Amino acid sequence: MQKRADIVQLKERLKDISDALLVPGDFHPALALAINEYASILFELTNINSESNEQRKDIFTHTGKAIGPFWAAACVREVLRTQRFCRGIYEAVKDCLVKQTTKPIQVIYAGTGPLAALAIPTMMQFRPDQVQFTLLEINPVSYKKLQQLLTILDLNVYVKEFVLADAATWKVTDTADIVVSETMNGGLRNEPQIAIMLNLASQLPGNTILIPEEITVALAALRKENEPLFLKELGRFNKESYREIIAGSSADEWFFQEVVYEPDQEIVSKLVLTTNITVYKSNKLNYNDCSLTLPYSVKGDFSQAKTLRFAYKLGEQTGFNVYAG
Ligand SMILES: C[S@@+](CC[C@H](N)C(=O)[O-])C[C@H]1O[C@@H](n2cnc3c(N)ncnc32)[C@H](O)[C@@H]1O
Repeated sequence: MQKRADIVQLKERLKDISDALLVPGDFHPALALAINEYASILFELTNINSESNEQRKDIFTHTGKAIGPFWAAACVREVLRTQRFCRGIYEAVKDCLVKQTTKPIQVIYAGTGPLAALAIPTMMQFRPDQVQFTLLEINPVSYKKLQQLLTILDLNVYVKEFVLADAATWKVTDTADIVVSETMNGGLRNEPQIAIMLNLASQLPGNTILIPEEITVALAALRKENEPLFLKELGRFNKESYREIIAGSSADEWFFQEVVYEPDQEIVSKLVLTTNITVYKSNKLNYNDCSLTLPYSVKGDFSQAKTLRFAYKLGEQTGFNVYAG
């Protein structure tokens, strides 16, 4: 049981950490220290433990993998990822507050993990009558740990609702100003980011801010030392393309257009998928900035291929499937 004075002190630390996370620009000396301290505080309060089988266990759904509590918690340590997402959410709430001051800005945060690490810095900067979060998580261990954490930190005043559900099928109960999800991997493989965004965007008004605003995946040729050479865009996921996918899909199956790449010479280099993310406005994650934007190898021998067809599929093996012809 934490003492009242300890909690006040912890929240002062969290406010300082959030100030460091929200400083404009890229890397700065205080950033890594702030993230380290942020992770230590949250890990200790939630008893995140790499040895626990329960905390390492992933959940598989028909739209992808939901990573277990320990892995989800570990994401906080990815410095640039955490900085850009925390700052993006904060800036989006600030932008909404310019237009709407009479009621709180409503944020749906899909896939909180046990720490809701992307939301706490925004809670530290606004009052509960300015911002409210609906916190969605599929993993019951993460869901419970998050409730315990926000209770200890006395932050439940920022929570409209905790929901234990699959965000890729959950029925929205109320309108929202902002939707946030970071349930992705490089090349948009394995995890259900796109299915979650499509499900939520299909039920919310067109002016809802989606975070990330845009994710692009491209085919590229890996060259020694240099950045990969761009060959073909395979997917650009943003508000407009979600609307098109929703309009072109049947009731409960999202339809993704195939993309064909016709090489103009023999493929000799290794092929990779590259990922670029616009979290919100100038908050971007580009090549190699974090695990979400690492190049991902396209497996196979394509040296004789005249065409390569890429199809995005949702399933236990969510990702771009490649067919050589
Ligand atoms: C990559 S972790 C991110 C954790 C945290 N939001 C952060 O950024 O630090 C993704 C989280 O989303 C949850 N998740 C994945 N698929 C989900 C789904 N379909 N519905 C709800 N939560 C999901 C996972 O269980 C995991 O806790």
